Amino acid sequence: MAYRWKNTLTAKDATPYSAFLNRRQLMAGLAAGGIAGSLPFGARAQEALEPNTWEEITTYCNYYEFGTGKEDPARYADALTIEPWTVRIDGLVDKPGDYSFSDIMSQMTIEERIYRFRCVEAWSMVIPWNGFELADLLNWVGVQSSAKYVAFETVLRPDEMPGVAYPVLDWPYVEGLRLDEAMHPLTIMATGLYGRDLPKQNGAPMRLVVPWKYGFKSIKSVVRITLTEDEPPASWNVANPREYGFYSNVNPEVDHPRWSQATERQIGSGLFAKRVPTLMFNGYDEVAGLYEGMDLRESF
Ligand code: MTE
Repeated sequence: MAYRWKNTLTAKDATPYSAFLNRRQLMAGLAAGGIAGSLPFGARAQEALEPNTWEEITTYCNYYEFGTGKEDPARYADALTIEPWTVRIDGLVDKPGDYSFSDIMSQMTIEERIYRFRCVEAWSMVIPWNGFELADLLNWVGVQSSAKYVAFETVLRPDEMPGVAYPVLDWPYVEGLRLDEAMHPLTIMATGLYGRDLPKQNGAPMRLVVPWKYGFKSIKSVVRITLTEDEPPASWNVANPREYGFYSNVNPEVDHPRWSQATERQIGSGLFAKRVPTLMFNGYDEVAGLYEGMDLRESF
């Protein structure tokens, strides 16, 4: 597996894990060295980003297949079998098939991406993902010219997932992106966290991460990727189209019908932390061109 370091702020590769955890000094050092200024991806949004702790990222989760409590995924996801793992890639692709996770990993270049992560529930974290660009995977299987969307599906295993006994959503969890969103270099399939394998509660062995969209678009434990001509169903949009749109771009000006999206609570900032303003596209302005000419209040 090859590594490329496009936008790391941490030089984690050359740093023992214990030192990596001592990130305050590390981040301060890198900022002083001016590295952040030359970052090609999400550079502005990454300025002064300090990742949340391993503990925070892995114990405050949403993975409803394991229960709706924030701590349920960490408690129950251990039961999920992730070896072997196969991803079916089908629809409008040149090389449809069942690809093993290890086959995919052998073809992809893993890099670190420190991204803001903004949940529709108005909390946020900063997460140091490891993963590969979804575009690389899609190019590897060959996208046909008629494809316009990408559909994703999470594994469904009632024996291993206590939460699917409840009809919170229409299982399996499904999501979708427009093809240009899926091909954008910010869009990754995450396979790790802090340089370690992705924990099961965070969507092992691989999950989507689309940093300019609300977190629910970042579907976990993906077993199927289908290229389609028509807009695919997305679980929360299907469950409540008035509250959750297909696009779900982070947008401080479009409130959720039941709460404001103007500010967010940064997880880990303490009990009495003040809320900070939410940024358009979660700060990833480079995606704005994808939505030129669209009314983002209507297409929310
Ligand atoms: N994917 C699946 N399959 N099931 C889920 O319940 N929750 C979503 C998203 N992906 C979810 C999912 C929501 S609402 C959020 S905010 C993020 O995962 C949470 O990711 P994290 O727990 O790794 O922070």
